[in-house]
Formats: sequence, structure tokens, C-alpha cells
Amino acid sequence: MTDRTARRSRRLGVLISGRGSNLQAIIDAIADGRLNATIAIVISNRADAPGLERARAAGIPTQVIDHRSFKSREDYDRALVAELRAHSVVVVCLAGFMRLLSPVFVEAYPDRILNIHPSLLPDFPGLHPQQQALDAGVALSGATVHIVNEDLDAGPIVLQRTVPVLPGDTAETLAARILVEEHKLYPEAIQRTLDEIAD
Ligand code: GRF
Repeated sequence: MTDRTARRSRRLGVLISGRGSNLQAIIDAIADGRLNATIAIVISNRADAPGLERARAAGIPTQVIDHRSFKSREDYDRALVAELRAHSVVVVCLAGFMRLLSPVFVEAYPDRILNIHPSLLPDFPGLHPQQQALDAGVALSGATVHIVNEDLDAGPIVLQRTVPVLPGDTAETLAARILVEEHKLYPEAIQRTLDEIAD
């Protein structure tokens, strides 16, 4: 593989809807050499997502594609895929992107879409996983990076890390403890995925 090909295969697209702390963790990991990749584009479905400012501050191109402007989920996903392809994105990282992906999207990037979820999947998929963990009374929760397929939070697992649930935890305190690990885990999982593609 030529250097040029290797570089092209390391172009990420990051999709966000909000705060963007995982986006920031990816930006920081690239900046300090823990992750050998380039963020080609950050796309948000919300114009007011604070994460957009994190991307701008790092000099990364941003795009807002508002799902409310599209007639169907498939039309929206086609617009996302077109934008990602226009930036030669090879791997898509969902980082707090609060939209379900249709087969249109998943089939455009087969095995090349990653998501991070704040539970030890397959436990507690979907919304409010930290509250689900508290309600279930588990002593361990954690974070999972997985490959996205057409089933919600159900694709093959790339990496997981456990986090203890402590007495007196609320959903907020547990979420904060898990988030610390998410920020280390996501860059590692992206690096692992990129290395497998490059092999
Ligand atoms: C994270 O907890 C992530 O695991 C989940 O949504 C949250 C996004 O946080 N999918 P942020 O926008 O990256 O700060």
C-alpha cells in the first residue's frame, strides 16, 4: 500500500447531535498521536449542537444537515452519505448522533460505521442506558464501541471497558464515570478498526 492510499483510508467522518465530548476526545487523540487519522468532516443534524464549535476550533470542516428538512429517513441518509463521500470518508464515527440509521446508510458503509454506547452491550441498548443499569441493580456497567448494523446497538463489538456502579449513584454520576472511559475507549477502537482496514 502506498502512503497516499494509507492516508486516504484514515479519513473519518464524525456525526454528532449535541455536546461532542467524544468528538473532542477523538480530536485530542489525533493531536497527541494516539490516533493516526484525519477528521475529514463533522456533520450534525442540529445547528445548535455545541460539538460543532469544538470542530470549528480545531479547524475541521463542519456541516449541518437537519433531518427535519427531509421527507423520509432514507432521503436524509442519502444526503448524509453524499456529504461523507464528498469528503472521501472511509470510516464513520457516531458520537452522540441521536438518529437511527436506515439500511441506505448502513449499506453505503458496510462494517465501516462505529458507535459508542454507555453500557456493556448487549445489556441496556437504546435510550437511558445508565438509568437502565441502575434499575437492574448491576454492580458493573461500562462503555462499548461497536460496528453499526441495521439493529439498534446490536452490531459486532470492537472494544468494551467496565466501570463500577457505586452505592448512591444516580444516572448522572454513573454517566460521568462511564464518560471518562468512553473518551479513552473510542480513539482506541477507531485505531483498531483503521489498522484492520489497512492490513
Ligand atoms: C455518550 O455517552 C455516548 O456514549 C452516547 O451519547 C453520549 C454522547 O456524548 N452515544 P457526547 O456528545 O460525545 O459528549
